Amino acid sequence: MKLKIAIDGPAGAGKSTVARMVAQQLHYTYIDTGAMYRAITLAIMRSGVPVDQTDAIAKLVKKCDLQIKLTPDGKNKIYLDGEDITTEIRQEAVSALVSDVSNQLMVRKFLVEKQRQMATTGGVVLDGRDIGTVVLPDAQLKIYLVASLAVRAKRRHLELNKDVDNISLSDLTNAMAIRDNKDANNTYGPMRPADDAITIDTDNLSIEEVVKKITELAKAKISA
Ligand code: DC
Repeated sequence: MKLKIAIDGPAGAGKSTVARMVAQQLHYTYIDTGAMYRAITLAIMRSGVPVDQTDAIAKLVKKCDLQIKLTPDGKNKIYLDGEDITTEIRQEAVSALVSDVSNQLMVRKFLVEKQRQMATTGGVVLDGRDIGTVVLPDAQLKIYLVASLAVRAKRRHLELNKDVDNISLSDLTNAMAIRDNKDANNTYGPMRPADDAITIDTDNLSIEEVVKKITELAKAKISA
């Protein structure tokens, strides 16, 4: 059986690295749904349409040609209308706006549909905020990764491209707290664990330990 695996949780909890490594170990496809919301956000920023113009945004979203390709090392490359935007969507300017964009019904309808289509065959690991609750309520394994804000902000600060974003750790911590709050209060796909999700606190675990735990859980489901 090829599982659908959902990995949700707040920014910086280690979701994308863990999801990618779990997918690699199981020979599954990794799908970074946050990158999809970031891509739409970048398209809106480039268009100059204000984020509160929901009708204009709905039109724009329908016209976006969004493609995700898997690289040989299991990462996702994101293309918007044929252009590789994988690096650009990681900018803090995109992070600052993405929660507001992802709180729009038409944006979510468009992306949730796309995510479900990509997952239909199984053999997938999706990471996001609402995968276990909204996108794939039928996922056989649901993980909710958590970590304290201080640990998450430190991790993100280390990952930042300092040539593009020279943000201090305390400013980044504040920005993440604001985004957490917005993501938790998203009207259509709030960040929260599904009732049947297994919560893993990653504060004191290495990436490898988290990956091992999830892979073991997945293997147990496969052989059940
Ligand atoms: O995982 P990330 O930090 O790259 O996600 C960026 C934003 O996208 C996040 O702040 C909320 C939104 N998002 C969402 O609403 N639903 C998802 N499934 C994934 C991300």
